Amino acid sequence: MISSSRTQVAIIGAGPSGLLLGALLHKAGIEHTIIERQSPAYVLGRIRAGILEQVTVDLLHEAGVGHGVDSGGTVHHSIELVFKNTRHPIDVTGLTNGKVVTAYGQTEVTRDLMQHRSQLGLPTVYEAADVQLHDFDGKHPSVTYTKDGVRHSLQCDFIAGCDGFHGVARASVPRDAITEYEKVYPFAWLGVLADVPPVSSHAIVYANSDRGFALCSMRSMTRSRYYVQCPSNDKLEDWSDQRFWDEIRRRLDPEMAERMQTGPSIEKSMAPLRSFVAEPMRFGRLFLAGDAAHIVPPTGAKGLNLAAGDVKYLSSALIEHYKENSDAGIDHYSQRALARIWRAERFSWWLTTLMHQFPESGAFGQRMQEAELDYLVKSKALSTSLAENYVGLPLDFG
Ligand code: APR
Ligand code: PHB
Repeated sequence: MISSSRTQVAIIGAGPSGLLLGALLHKAGIEHTIIERQSPAYVLGRIRAGILEQVTVDLLHEAGVGHGVDSGGTVHHSIELVFKNTRHPIDVTGLTNGKVVTAYGQTEVTRDLMQHRSQLGLPTVYEAADVQLHDFDGKHPSVTYTKDGVRHSLQCDFIAGCDGFHGVARASVPRDAITEYEKVYPFAWLGVLADVPPVSSHAIVYANSDRGFALCSMRSMTRSRYYVQCPSNDKLEDWSDQRFWDEIRRRLDPEMAERMQTGPSIEKSMAPLRSFVAEPMRFGRLFLAGDAAHIVPPTGAKGLNLAAGDVKYLSSALIEHYKENSDAGIDHYSQRALARIWRAERFSWWLTTLMHQFPESGAFGQRMQEAELDYLVKSKALSTSLAENYVGLPLDFG
């Protein structure tokens, strides 16, 4: 027995991409259903980056979920670069004609979107097993899945693959129809969440040191998110809280190291660093968005912002299709999204390369990074390039 239903857009994945797309489609009066493999608690348990570009904040407002970021976000006007044990502020707002970023966690964005969805009673199938995509190269695609032992078939006009890097959507595309570009970095980030006031609440701190990269971020005025670069094969058990605090302090400037408050970790995780792009992002009536199509290393926090850009282009394309009888947006979706993605890939790769210790590049590599950082903090041209990418290039950059 198979239970059959119909919607206009089937969205695979209830991460930030799928949830934001759902909210924007609903606002435009387009029917959709989200099908998610995990439970809501599992989705909310994932801790990821927390810097939002203005474009992303605007999109949350457009989707009707801007209240959380308005009340819980912290506006940042600068960033701090540490190298050779010295801290240098970069006046991001001054260099970008007044632009800012907002510190607000992806977990919080996801929670706001989930609450909004359940208040509106929008359909989400959690814990859907064996999700399969069918006939997206023809006019009548569908998605099948099993929920509570019952097999379901959801007929639709379009499928949005918002199911992350390990999802089923990209994997359903024939191998010869897709090209993948990838770089895996030879190190990981160890992240710690702790209920201590952030050492820097007005700016994210990015530290280059000959012991490796370190980053100081925040989730609120009482919750900090910190990272250190570590070897990819390190295990979480290798890193006691004490070892983490000792190590991050050694990578910062002395004043900040002294001032940093420490406490027990409430979450600790290791993340490998990867750059990845799949081209194209449309296959007939299937679209990929967010991590399903691309990954950036977390340096610069572009992942969620890129996902938001994809969702903006995709929702506009679908709205044009249904409301204006035009497929121009659908036809241009992949090209528009990829232009933005490659720019952010370049920025994330550049900042990663500038700030981390690469095992193969040795003392010469370290000196080159220090020379570039020294040039960066003294050159208006280079610091403007950093700042304009950090706040995010406009959606219509070209
Ligand atoms: N069927 C249904 N759902 C699936 C499947 C599947 N086969 N595979 C994965 N999913 C779900 C995952 O459980 C997850 O909830 O798809 C969702 C994808 O969410 P994310 O991985 O968060 O991806 P995305 O929504 O594109 O968010 C991009 O996440 O990794 C960060 O840096 C990235 O901030 C960016 C953001
Ligand atoms: C984070 O808050 O987790 C964060 C902030 C800035 C980054 C990366 C991660 O560049």
